[in-house]
Amino acid sequence: MGESKMLLLALGSAAFFGIVSIFFVLRWVLHFKEGLGWDGGLAEFNWHPVLVVIGFIFLQGTAIVVYRLPWTWRCSKLTMKFIHAGLNLLAFALVVVSMVAVFDFHNTAKIPNMYSLHSWLGLAAVILYCLQLVLGIVMFLVPVTPVYWRAAFMPLHVYSGLFIFSSTIAVALMGITEKLIFGLSNPKYKDSPPEAIFVNILGLILVVFGALILLIATRPSWKRPSEQLSHILHTSGGGEDNIRVGPALSQLSEGTDDGEIRRRSNRLDDQDKLPND
Ligand code: HEM
Ligand code: HEM
Repeated sequence: MGESKMLLLALGSAAFFGIVSIFFVLRWVLHFKEGLGWDGGLAEFNWHPVLVVIGFIFLQGTAIVVYRLPWTWRCSKLTMKFIHAGLNLLAFALVVVSMVAVFDFHNTAKIPNMYSLHSWLGLAAVILYCLQLVLGIVMFLVPVTPVYWRAAFMPLHVYSGLFIFSSTIAVALMGITEKLIFGLSNPKYKDSPPEAIFVNILGLILVVFGALILLIATRPSWKRPSEQLSHILHTSGGGEDNIRVGPALSQLSEGTDDGEIRRRSNRLDDQDKLPND
């Protein structure tokens, strides 16, 4: 299978598993649990898993791979930065509401706060995510930030983004398991009632979604063509004559020669003036 087909298959599968995970979490709280409400009780708690799955997992994952969508490669880098930052901001807003829901529920029910490993790692992930957002905006959207700062910061941004995203999946799996152990009494979790099987499957779906997002975001030949070209230019040690386009690029731009691809990608980067951000 060609690189472009593999990329489309990975993107399609990620979209499928991401959307199915949202259906699963909604069915869990609406069918098996107390539904959704804002009354300080269990219905308010239920916003916690719903909003973290939609915001912290699905939207963050989508924001991470947004640069890798082939149909956006003709958009300017600046447009894509606004979409990437906007999706992350929206995700953060939903995560904040989900935190308010769980803390409010704990306070109303007089349950202690921050006693579990889930809550420690969860809050750490939210704080790091907030820091990543602020630094991302300052480094890549504020026009006066020097170009060499941006270039130096980029590897850290990508590493910490992938680290936070992976941690989020791990934290969600811990939360799911905790909730099943607390919530199931007759029959118990160990007796595998339908709710437990259903929610275990939700956990599996989240892992598959996470694995697909990490695959898409780390495969060099699936990068935006302008990034592939600048990467090759910076690593091949040669000038323009040494450019070899990556497989995804050559297949996705059938019918165009290397010169045309280079002209297009230079045009894209020109609008932003930065080869590497
Ligand atoms: C509690 C974060 C996902 C279930 C908490 C608390 C935090 C947190 C900070 C502590 C609240 C307090 O002490 O008052 C997160 C983050 C998640 C996440 C960042 C993103 C992935 C989930 C999911 C579930 C869940 C998917 C599944 C139902 C729980 C439960 C508690 C809780 C049962 C109360 C017990 C405890 O404090 O450990 N969460 N959570 N969480 N969360 Fe999550
Ligand atoms: C790339 C995560 C916020 C700008 C990336 C990548 C990840 C990531 C994982 C690598 C994607 C890839 O290689 O395809 C995050 C997370 C954020 C966040 C989790 C929020 C908490 C921001 C913000 C900006 C920004 C606010 C400001 C514009 C960029 C840029 C790239 C990037 C310019 C390079 C894309 C490329 O290589 O073409 N981000 N990011 N990020 N991010 Fe963010």
